Parts: sequence; C-alpha cells; structure tokens
Amino acid sequence: MPRSTHLRRKVFVTRAIDPAALERLRAAAAVAVWPGEMPPPAPKLRTALADADAVLSMITDKIDASVIAGAPRLRVISNLGVGVDNIDLEAATRAGIAVGHTPGVLTEATADLAFGLLMTTARRIAEADRHVRAGRWRTWGPMTMLGCDVHSSTLGLIGFGAIGQAMARRAMGFGMRVLYLKHPSSKRIAGAAAVSLPRLLAESDFISLHVPLTPKTRHMISVREFALMKPGAILINTARGAVIDQRALVAALKSGRLAGAGLDVTDPEPIALRDPLLRFNNVVVTPHIGSASIATRANMAAIAVDNILAVFSGRLPRCCANKKVRLRPPKDAA
Ligand code: DGY
Repeated sequence: MPRSTHLRRKVFVTRAIDPAALERLRAAAAVAVWPGEMPPPAPKLRTALADADAVLSMITDKIDASVIAGAPRLRVISNLGVGVDNIDLEAATRAGIAVGHTPGVLTEATADLAFGLLMTTARRIAEADRHVRAGRWRTWGPMTMLGCDVHSSTLGLIGFGAIGQAMARRAMGFGMRVLYLKHPSSKRIAGAAAVSLPRLLAESDFISLHVPLTPKTRHMISVREFALMKPGAILINTARGAVIDQRALVAALKSGRLAGAGLDVTDPEPIALRDPLLRFNNVVVTPHIGSASIATRANMAAIAVDNILAVFSGRLPRCCANKKVRLRPPKDAA
C-alpha cells in the first residue's frame, strides 16, 4: 500500500506502550498517543475516536455502544490485554469493528503473580515485612507469624484455560494436589482432577480464579460459595474483581471462615483506601499487575500492533475476540 494511504489512517493509542511496537505502528499510520499515567477521560476518548480508524485501547478504557456509535471510521479496537470486558463486543460486531486482544503471551506472567499471591498469603510474607519495618521483630518466636503449608495442600482452580493450567503446573511443582472446575471445554492435564463446584470449594485449601468476567461469572463467588468453602481456605483472584461479591468476601474474612485473600483485581479499581478489605492483615492487594513484566508487556504491545496492522491489510486480527465480525470497509475505499 502506498505510504500516503498509510499515513491517512489515524490510530489513537490510549497510553504510552512499548516504544518498538509504537514505532511499527507509526510506520503505518498517523498515531496519537494519550500522554500521562491516567487514561483519557470519556469525553476525550470520544473526541479522539470520532475520526480514528483504529484504537489501541487499555482494559481501563470503557468502549461501550455509544462510544462505538460515535466512531464512524473505526475498524479495529485492539485491546492491550486478554480480557475484553471493557468493550461492548456485540455493539462492535454489529458495527463491523474487529476487536483484537492479546492472549497467550501473558499466561505465564499472570500465573507467576497468582502463585506469588498464594505464597504471600499462605506464609504471610507482606504482613511479616510490615512487622519488620514497624520495628516489631524483637526475637525469633516459636509462635510468631505462623502461616499455612503450601506443599501437600489442595489447590482448586476455577477457570482452567491457559492461565489456570499454568497455575496447575506451578502447584504440581510445589507438591500440591490440583482440582479444577469441570467444564466441557476444559483440557485435561495429567495429575489434575475435574470436580464439581461444591466439591472444589469443600476440598480446596487455596482457590484461585481464572475466568473471564461475563454476565455468568459476575459475583460467581458469593455468600453461598463462601459457606461451602473449607474453613481456613485462602482465595486468590488475578481474573477480574467483579467475579467475587466483595461484600460477601468481607463477611467471610470477618467471620474467620477464610484465612486470607490475595487479590490482584478488585471491584472497583483502584480499590478505595477506606475499603474494609484493606483493614485485614491477611489480605494482600496488588494493583492489577498480573501481566506486568517487561517482556510480557512488550509482547502484548507487539500483538496489539499486529492486530491493527492485520485489519489495515484487510484481514481479521490473529487474536480476535469477535471472529464472526464482518469488517466494515475503510472509509477511504467506500
Ligand atoms: C488482561 O490481560 O486482561 C489483564 O487483566 C491485564 O493484563
């Protein structure tokens, strides 16, 4: 395609990403990058999308039906993340806009963080660090900072896609027994047993969530599920905050039914400083950093750019969240 055609295309990138990926995009289009740490406010996003051919969005950008309706040239929303719950997929599909995402490359980094949260809550690592910094380490104590064993315990995985399976591999390396929630699409892996939800909740010492946020999974862990959990269980969430009913989580922590929680995601994000969850010493909260390794974020950015370039060449993105979409024609070709 002639360079002039390329440069007429406008791409809005809603936050600075890996420079090498951005360079590739700049070679193919006129690129505007929203500056600063914070996402573009909704009105700015709308204005930027009014004449954009593509947007490279973050999971913090809400791209709903009304944003889509105000973006008549848009042909691809390329989300930097595997989750696409910030985008109205149906509205995008109806409008002929492909939605790209970045699965695969963040699997291992996210499982690393999930396992890190499991270790941190089990062995009270964050709490112990606060103990030392507060000058409370006075001696070795036979009853000081006692936590739960990770080895020989049972991990229950809710969601057994790529990240759930990567978590299972880590757990097996630590000598854990692994259960996962039975689902028709779950791949079997040797050494892990598919079980029902009540059995998983009753038998797991650690429960880790790896499902996307959909109307079906919203609040799938609520009062009933906490009541079915083994007393003293620890809950890990690196998926989406709203998969857990947080009021029910607070109640389960208050009653002592849960021994702790490791949360990389909350509802809402960021969590309010006055949120009751932050008052529990046995709760560890990280700021949604599951995929935040240097290499992983560079790989995610590369795929997000590839997804846009594919649409500019008339193809669907390789990683497409709405594969049934019929791409709308480019405005300059109409
Ligand atoms: C995702 O990819 O959906 C994560 O939540 C952010 O990396």
